[in-house]
Amino acid sequence: MAIRPLVILPDAQLRLVSKPVEVVTPEIKALVEDMFETMYDAPGIGLAAIQIGEPVRVVTIDLAKRDVKEGEEPEPRRPQVFINPEVTWTSEEHSVYEEGCLSIPEYYEEVERPAQVKVRYMDLDGKTQEIEADGLLATCLQHEIDHLNGVLFIDYLSRLKRERVTKKFAKAAKRERAA
Ligand code: NI
Repeated sequence: MAIRPLVILPDAQLRLVSKPVEVVTPEIKALVEDMFETMYDAPGIGLAAIQIGEPVRVVTIDLAKRDVKEGEEPEPRRPQVFINPEVTWTSEEHSVYEEGCLSIPEYYEEVERPAQVKVRYMDLDGKTQEIEADGLLATCLQHEIDHLNGVLFIDYLSRLKRERVTKKFAKAAKRERAA
């Protein structure tokens, strides 16, 4: 298990279409462990494998509330793994959430998406499962599945906003390379 470096905007890897997982091998299980470790360390609530540089269709999510006020107990961890996840149904109803992304650190914007989705996926035992999700899980699943297709949440913003944030991160990457 290891905390892996995150792939950050404008890294071209974020635009790759990830490949389906054929079989859940020990390598895939090790990747999932690294993804949770990296996600918890960040901390974040969702991660796609490409965000640690692995172009395979694997998503980890944990929506447990850990960041609580003094005197409150953090919720126990609730790790969820989705292999080859696919949206099979979306509701007519939409909802708006302020989204962020570990590959676009400290940038948050509201995004409108279907409020409920059904997602078919493979679990760690290689079994096909389907869930119906709403609320934060529905948004998070759609955000992470987008990553598997090279889509980022900033793609839903106005061109002006998207260009502004992309430029900002391109400049920061340039500074880092120069340092
Ligand atoms: Ni993201």
